[in-house]
Amino acid sequence: MKILVVGGGGREHTIIKKIRENPSVTEIFALPGNGGISKDAKCVDIGAKETDKIVEFAKKENIDFAIVAPDDPLVLGTVDLLEKAGIPCFGPDKKAAIIEGSKVFSKNLMKKYNIPTAKYETFDNMEDALSYLETAPVPTVIKADGLALGKGVVIAMTRDEAVNAVKSMMQDKVFGESGNHIVIEEFLEGPEVSVLSFTDGKTMVPMVSSMDHKRALDGDKGLNTGGMGTIAPNPYYTPDIADRCMKEIFLPTMEAMNSEGRTFKGCLYFGLMLTENGPKVIEYNCRFGDPETQVVLPLLKTDLLDIMMAVSNETLDKINVEFSESSACCVVMASNGYPGKYETGFEITVDDDFKGNLYIAGAKLDGEKLLSGGGRVLGITAVGDSLKDAVEKCYMQVEKVHFENAFYRKDIGQRALKA
Ligand code: AMP
Ligand code: GLY
Repeated sequence: MKILVVGGGGREHTIIKKIRENPSVTEIFALPGNGGISKDAKCVDIGAKETDKIVEFAKKENIDFAIVAPDDPLVLGTVDLLEKAGIPCFGPDKKAAIIEGSKVFSKNLMKKYNIPTAKYETFDNMEDALSYLETAPVPTVIKADGLALGKGVVIAMTRDEAVNAVKSMMQDKVFGESGNHIVIEEFLEGPEVSVLSFTDGKTMVPMVSSMDHKRALDGDKGLNTGGMGTIAPNPYYTPDIADRCMKEIFLPTMEAMNSEGRTFKGCLYFGLMLTENGPKVIEYNCRFGDPETQVVLPLLKTDLLDIMMAVSNETLDKINVEFSESSACCVVMASNGYPGKYETGFEITVDDDFKGNLYIAGAKLDGEKLLSGGGRVLGITAVGDSLKDAVEKCYMQVEKVHFENAFYRKDIGQRALKA
């Protein structure tokens, strides 16, 4: 089978390595992939948002199955076009991807179907938003409607910060068109849990839970990033909470999307906060999380491609999806300065006795050499019998990977170990 994977980060590298385990896979193309992925797939210089070129390429190569991993191409409707061209896909169509593509849509969906989430108001006019803020409780949370590279959320601790956030989104358009509509919502507190799920619109299969570490620096300080490390399973996510989430959040969301004529097929990501008043949805993503994928997929025992094809065929109920009882930890090595300005082009070297899983997020090839080529450069995952074991093993492997100007958090998993 010839497989096409759209995307080129650590998440896509993880998916590709897992897909390779299926013996019927003969060839994998990554569009665009990256220098590190090129060891495991043929990288083709077509960007993840170049929809027409992607479809043209898939037809020319007679691709048997396509996996569209990042949010942008999903929201743009890449799956619709590939399927129209006769290529089966893993990933939601455009109508369903709106669950991530528009926060106004997802908040209204949750309200309509009584799915627990933070209380909120939506605005498409700055004067109304500003007058609402005059009496709104603080802290408060301001969210730009559309995709904003994970940066469209401001937690405002004071009224002034909230006013500035609204102005920068709606007046200065720092997130472009995404700021035309905004959500202002209640500030929630509690441990955060990421739950990725497989769903074909009929069956809902949550994967092992995980915990992201979004801030750049140790102790959850510094700026928000795309994610500096993850652990799985998340110890705050007890079997009781999992049951409750299935009944109150996961199944109702799947059914809500069906009722709206927007059946979701693919990986539906639930970003949850476990509040005093029960679990609540912070965000939905229409795709695998990055770097959650880097800890979730190494624990998956069932063949990933079989699951993905079952989702596409709407036969997920026929598959017994199993995860190992082990734990996993992923530490992201980034370029110093990320998520601000940083330098790239430094050679990445790996000691001979490296024993972790290496997932390359941003790198380019220079002859035989692999050079750093992004903010998040790579992720290192280790699996262990316990969370403590996985964290220790992971940090031992981090010592064996080198590039100039590298930085990483030293405390991935520490909060979870205290749970
Ligand atoms: P998002 O881009 O939606 O993932 O939001 C980024 C981060 O902002 C989340 O992981 C939370 O830590 C935080 N956040 C988002 N919404 C809220 C909320 N209503 N209350 C408290 N924190 C929030
Ligand atoms: N790690 C969070 C995300 O993928 O959105």
